[in-house]
Amino acid sequence: MEKLRWWVPMALVLACSGDDGLVDGFTQAEWELVSALSPAPQAAPDPTNKFADDPAAATLGQRLFFDPGYSGPIKIGDDGTNGGLGAAGESGKVSCRSCHLGEWMIDDRSRPAGTSLAIDWFFRNSPTLVNVATYEKWFGWVGFNDNLWGKSLIPAEFVMGTTRTGIVRYLYTKHRAEYEAVFGVALPPELDDAHPETGRFPSDATPLAADGSWSTMSAADQDAVNLAYANFGKALAAYQRLLISGPAPFDRYIAGETAAISASAKRGARLFIGKAACVACHAGPTMSDEEFHVTGVEQVGAHVLGAPDYDPGRFGAIGVYTGWDFSTAGKYNDDPSVNHSVGVTEDPALTGAFRTKGLRNVAMTGPFMHTGHLSSLREVVEFYNAGGASSGFAGTKDPLMVPLNLSEGEIDDLVAFLESLTGTPVPAELLQDPAGA
Ligand code: HEC
Ligand code: HEC
Repeated sequence: MEKLRWWVPMALVLACSGDDGLVDGFTQAEWELVSALSPAPQAAPDPTNKFADDPAAATLGQRLFFDPGYSGPIKIGDDGTNGGLGAAGESGKVSCRSCHLGEWMIDDRSRPAGTSLAIDWFFRNSPTLVNVATYEKWFGWVGFNDNLWGKSLIPAEFVMGTTRTGIVRYLYTKHRAEYEAVFGVALPPELDDAHPETGRFPSDATPLAADGSWSTMSAADQDAVNLAYANFGKALAAYQRLLISGPAPFDRYIAGETAAISASAKRGARLFIGKAACVACHAGPTMSDEEFHVTGVEQVGAHVLGAPDYDPGRFGAIGVYTGWDFSTAGKYNDDPSVNHSVGVTEDPALTGAFRTKGLRNVAMTGPFMHTGHLSSLREVVEFYNAGGASSGFAGTKDPLMVPLNLSEGEIDDLVAFLESLTGTPVPAELLQDPAGA
């Protein structure tokens, strides 16, 4: 981050200090900053998941992604207006796909728009999963996990109403052959309902529940469940690593196709790396520095954490995630030399901070922000033009969040630039249940 912070002032100095060798109207210094936002990113290597690039793991992950079979009872039923997934009490209605829909894998189902309804309302907006694997270490709005497979485990227990043994028993019943073929380990035979010792694995046990059933299991059985649960996440991650969009008009422009984007989008690109200083946080081809910042997003919406205890953002996540079995600090990481938790502390300055969102395909992935309360890119740029909200959020705003004094035309230009970041969608065969294909 420190490395990036000097870019913006430096760029402004360089941009004013001479215009030798203009590139399509950009100074050399401006062009260097703009072209550093391209080409379209690929999935980041993930040595913490041995199965990250295993096609059989990805196929199993794709099946699990589209499968509602392992979800638990719905708490908030369909009232005809909320886009609910079934009647209260019904099980087997929620899949990952329920909140990551369509070509861009966003939630356009839950209503009122903004946050997401699975078995219950969640207090943040569902982000796109297209290009999620281009983040290197922090996943989710607050970096609740530091790797994609660990992050993929969180919905099961938090928004899908199941448990660790619930998942592992499901894997045994429905996917045992594929699971064992991919991961090369046998699931414990006691997971079979008909096995005389099946009681060793209670049907719904998790260390997150206070009912004590997790602690009735031996340490070895707990480890067997955790290992299979981690592998469930690794299969889901292998699938999500394939969800990468292709080059956008902006990339074709940087590659030399001068007419690939409009004059307005080009002016917007200059504002993005210059006057509007967006690049200070939205850096590199992913357009995210993967750090946490307080931008002052007001907590607006029926299901967000409102006054007086506004969403604590990153600060609220650190303590929880450092004790989590499935971070890179835990034993299910396949490459302990990668440990993103080193140096992470519970820093109160991170109160109200959120991970910088990548901006690839952003025109297709609204509504915006962790609250989902901004519905157009123009509203987002107006939010920045005002220097963020003045109240209604936790924490102290980043010093970069100051009014930008952009004209109406400059706001249009920034929007046009953001619209030039839409790449080609992921292949259609990845957007359906492979079993039903
Ligand atoms: C409520 C509907 C819902 C369901 C069902 C759901 N998700 Fe999500 N997903 C969300 C929300 C909301 C977030 C953002 C949570 C946060 O960061 O606080 C999210 C975030 C994510 C992220 C992180 C994205 C990023 O930008 O870093 C991944 C990966 C993910 N989900 C995968 C899955 C998988 C895999 C499943 C199924 C096992 C799943 N989701 C099921 C709503 C859902
Ligand atoms: C101080 C760092 C910082 C700066 C400067 C910054 N952003 Fe952001 N941006 C963020 C963070 C953090 C988020 C996520 C905020 C949240 O949801 O709470 C975000 C979210 C966004 C989103 C919403 C993405 C989505 O999918 O919901 C857009 C669009 C965006 N920024 C564009 C811009 C533009 C354009 C500029 C320049 C005018 C800019 N940003 C400047 C940090 C920054």
